[in-house]
Amino acid sequence: MLLKYPKAAPLNVWLLLIALLPSLLSSCATSPKPEADAVSRGYTAERAMVVSAHPEASRIGMEIMKKGGNAYDAAVATQLALAVAFPVAGNIGGGGFMVYRGADGETGALDYRETAPGAASETMYQDSAGNVVQGLSTDGHLAVGVPGAIDGMVKIHEKLGSLPWAELVQPAIDLARNGVVLTSKEAEGLNYTKQMFISNNKHVPYLVRDKVWQSGDTLRHPDLARTLERIRDKGREGFYAGETADLFVKEMQRGGGIITHQDLQDYEAVWRAPVTGDYKGYKVISMAPPSSGGVALLQLLEMVEPFDLRTYGWQSVEAVQVMTEAERRVYADRATYLGDPDFVNVPVEQLLDEAYLKERMRSVNMSLATPSANIKAGQLPVYESDQTTHFSIVDPAGNAVSITTTLNGGYGSKVVVEGAGFLLNNEMDDFSAKPGVPNMFGLVGGKANAIQPRKRMLSSMTPTILEKDGKLYMVVGTPGGSTIITSVFQTILNVLEHDMTMQQAVAAPRFHHQWLPDEIQHEAAALLPTVEAELKRKGYELKQRGPFGRVDAILVLPNGKLEAGADPRGDDAAAGF
Ligand code: GLY
Repeated sequence: MLLKYPKAAPLNVWLLLIALLPSLLSSCATSPKPEADAVSRGYTAERAMVVSAHPEASRIGMEIMKKGGNAYDAAVATQLALAVAFPVAGNIGGGGFMVYRGADGETGALDYRETAPGAASETMYQDSAGNVVQGLSTDGHLAVGVPGAIDGMVKIHEKLGSLPWAELVQPAIDLARNGVVLTSKEAEGLNYTKQMFISNNKHVPYLVRDKVWQSGDTLRHPDLARTLERIRDKGREGFYAGETADLFVKEMQRGGGIITHQDLQDYEAVWRAPVTGDYKGYKVISMAPPSSGGVALLQLLEMVEPFDLRTYGWQSVEAVQVMTEAERRVYADRATYLGDPDFVNVPVEQLLDEAYLKERMRSVNMSLATPSANIKAGQLPVYESDQTTHFSIVDPAGNAVSITTTLNGGYGSKVVVEGAGFLLNNEMDDFSAKPGVPNMFGLVGGKANAIQPRKRMLSSMTPTILEKDGKLYMVVGTPGGSTIITSVFQTILNVLEHDMTMQQAVAAPRFHHQWLPDEIQHEAAALLPTVEAELKRKGYELKQRGPFGRVDAILVLPNGKLEAGADPRGDDAAAGF
C-alpha cells in the first residue's frame, strides 16, 4: 500500500514512520486484527469505536456499546476505566470537558472542570512579601481544585445515557479489583514518581512499593474499587458526600489542604454551548471557555484559511510560517482575554470575528519572522503540564463524544486520598499564581485567570468534532498542556489539507508556537533540515523537544466505516465493532 504523505516532506515522514512502525502496530493491540494496510490506514470498524489512552479503557467503552449502550454510556465507562487503568491522567479526582454531537445533529458541551475551593484567594500561593512560593500550586494538598469528574459523569448519564448507571461503573470496579497489567511506560511513570508520592502524602500510597515496578506487573486498586462501589450505589453522593467525602476532607486536613465538605457539596458541572466555526465547508464544534481550546482552534483555522496550505505542502517552509504566525497571535490573545466566563467577560464573539482575524494576519511577512515582542502585549501563557488524556467515541447510531480529562500534572498533586485510593489533581496551577508577574515556571498569566473562590481555572483542552455536509466527519482531541490546541489544529489540517489518513495524521510529527517563548518547538523529524535552515534564515528560533500530545481520533470514511487514529506516542488503542 502506498503511503499518502505529502510530497513536500517524504524523507522525514518515512524516517518517522519506520521509527514508529512497532508502536503503530501495537497501538491496535486489543483491537480485532487491523486491516493489512494498518500503517497507512488506522484500525477500522464498521459501526462503533472508542479510541483512548489505554487498551482496557477502550475495550470497556466498546463493550458497553456492544451491550446496547450509546456513546454517552460508553464515555462514562471509559472515563471511570481510565481512572483505574491510566492513573497518570485518567481520574475521578480531576475534571474535564465533553463536546458531543448527537446522531440527530444536536450538539452540546459539558464543563466538569475543577473549581477553586471556597477558601482560595488570589494570593494563596504567595508569601508575605508577595513572592510566589515554588511548589505550592503544583505539589500536595493546597494544589488541589474541587474535582468535577463524578458530577460530570452523573450529569452525562442523567441527560444522555441509556443503560443503568451501575452497569457503567461496574467494569471499572472489576478492573480495579482484578488489577491492570502495567506497560513499560506506566511502570516507568510510577517509578519516576515514587519519591514525589512519598513526600506529598502523610501515608505511603499504594502506588509505592519497595521493588521497582516492571512492565507485566499487575497493579490492583482495592480502595479505589470500594470508592467506585459507593459511586455505583449512590451516584453523585457516593463521591461528594458520605464516606468518600469524609475521607477526602480528612486527607485535606492531614496535608494542609483547604477543600471542605461544603466545597464538595457545592460542586456542579455546567452544560455550555460549544463554540462553532467553519473551515472550508467543514463545521468545527469545540469547547467553549473556561477552556481556551475551542476559541483558539477556531481562530487558528480562520486565520490560515486564506492561505493555500495544500499547495505549499505539509511542513513546508511556507506552511510552517503561516501556521506559526497564526499561533503566536492566537496565544497572545489567549493569555490576555481568556478565563472563566462565569467570573470575567470573555469576548468570544470579537475573538472569532472574521475581520478581526484577517487584520491580525495582515502583519505577516513571508520573508521574515514577526518577533513576538511586536505582537500585541498581553500576559504570558499559563504553564500547563502535558499530562492529560483524551478519548473519542462513536456509537452505532452515530452519536459522537469527544472528551479531554485531566489531573493536570502527571498523577496530579501526587496526593492519594487515604482509604479511598484515588489521586487528586493539581489543577490550581492552571490559574495565574500571581497575575502579571512571573510564576514559579518563569511565566505569568493574565488578570482574567486570577484565582477566586469557586472560579474555574483556564484550560487548553480542545475536545472537538467536525461535520462535513451536515454529517459527522471527525472526533479529535489530545493531552499536551499548551500544545493541545496546536496538536488538534495540525491533526485536522493533516487530514483536510494533506490527505492523510486518520492514523497518519495522528502519528505525523508536530511543531508548536505559543507566542512566548518566541520559538518553534518541534518533535524530532518534524522538519526537514532544509526547511529548518530556511526558517532560521528568516529569523525563526527552533527548539527540538520530546514528543508532545497523544491525539486519539476517529474519522468517518466515505464508505461509512470508522477509522481510528491512536497515537503511537503512548499505549493508545482503538476498539470497535
Ligand atoms: N491542565 C491542562 C489544561 O487544562 O489545559
